[in-house]
Amino acid sequence: MTTRVMFFCLGNICRSPLAEALFRYHVEARGLGDRFEIASSGTSGYHVGEPPDPGSVKVAKERLGLDISGQRAQRLVGAHVQAYDWLVAMDGANLRDARRLEGGERQKLVLLRDYEPSEAQRGGDVPDPWGGGPEHFEQVFEMVERCTAGLLDALMADRT
Ligand code: 4NP
Repeated sequence: MTTRVMFFCLGNICRSPLAEALFRYHVEARGLGDRFEIASSGTSGYHVGEPPDPGSVKVAKERLGLDISGQRAQRLVGAHVQAYDWLVAMDGANLRDARRLEGGERQKLVLLRDYEPSEAQRGGDVPDPWGGGPEHFEQVFEMVERCTAGLLDALMADRT
């Protein structure tokens, strides 16, 4: 059975494109590519159709050689909330906005940082790096890299 996972932020140009790419990276590294369907979106329509922010494209390339420039922003809608098994928010405001959409069982709407591997870091938001310098995108990359691995561990543990 395929598990459908949707990552979302506000614009779908900075944080959630990295989450989509890094979760896919972990899935493929573990040979689980045929078990997951992975996507990303934004709660706003501000950037629909646009490629990821240059800061996110650059850090993905530099750190892991991932090319995310082909992704295009889409808006999160009620149909996604119904169709996906897990909807993973980058921050608390994203989560509140998604809860207003039709049809979402609350249990499948979760926060990415609840999957921090280290308990001491667990909870809170992935900070919005939009308009920030490279260090902001690097901080987001590291956080999202850890938490997407933690999420995959949790989803695989759930199945057994
Ligand atoms: P993201 O970052 O939610 O991580 O994609 C943002 C992108 C655009 C805006 C805000 C955050 N904006 O206000 O246009």
